[in-house]
Amino acid sequence: MKIFIDTAKISEIKEAISWGIVDGITTNPSLVRKAMESEGTGKKIDEYIEEILKIAGPERPVSLEVMGVKAEDMIREAEILYEKFNDIANNVVIKVPVNTYAGHYEGLKTIRHLSEEGIPVNCTLIMTPEQALLAAKAGARYVSPFAGRIDDYIRTTKLGMKAGEDFKKGDYYPWDGMGVDDNGIRSGSDLVEKVVMILENYDYDTEVIASSIRNARQVREAAMIGAHIATIPFNVLQEMLLHPKTEEGVKKFSEDAEKANYHEIFS
Ligand code: E4P
Repeated sequence: MKIFIDTAKISEIKEAISWGIVDGITTNPSLVRKAMESEGTGKKIDEYIEEILKIAGPERPVSLEVMGVKAEDMIREAEILYEKFNDIANNVVIKVPVNTYAGHYEGLKTIRHLSEEGIPVNCTLIMTPEQALLAAKAGARYVSPFAGRIDDYIRTTKLGMKAGEDFKKGDYYPWDGMGVDDNGIRSGSDLVEKVVMILENYDYDTEVIASSIRNARQVREAAMIGAHIATIPFNVLQEMLLHPKTEEGVKKFSEDAEKANYHEIFS
């Protein structure tokens, strides 16, 4: 499974790249806002994005999202983003929501138009397998099912739980659900699994990015499912490395190495 980092913070991107595990980067307007407020103060947004693209380099796609809700606006913005930034490292992917408002089909029109122009699209805010199928059919290079937000949705609308009170953002929600579903979708991982199954049934080239990942166990499930990619926030990457027995083991090995005069080997 490829790993993308789900952040616009340059410090996090650099650190995760130094671990040798980053195959790409996804951003969205909320992540860019957070990064600009914490690390980008005094910088222009264009310069900040250019820096991300340079750090990522040509081997790592970087998703940049449009802001409009009408196809003509999203197409114009996508073309500007692509023309402005793709020459820097040839790694720009445009993020387009699958749909923007009921009764209009702006997302799919935008995806079709951009893919015909050869601009790669990451179709975002996928909440059902049907949306993913249509996005793939319209030409999306990637589809991003939002696992965490579906878990939130099921917990709040079907189980009557309150976000922040009954569950925290990082809390695990079972893959099999808790006896309720959203039109046949039992959990975020169930959504990812069904999206992968459907696209693989028909050999679409579209890659599935398990998105809106909230904890390490969801990453494990994305990998078990066979998601092509998981886009993972930095705090979840950190969580993936933690286990008390690992820390305990390192401490004991260090103590024993001291006692066995290991330092003589290295001196
Ligand atoms: C990535 O492409 C998505 O924008 C991101 O994973 C959303 O995550 P969130 O639901 O935690 O905001």
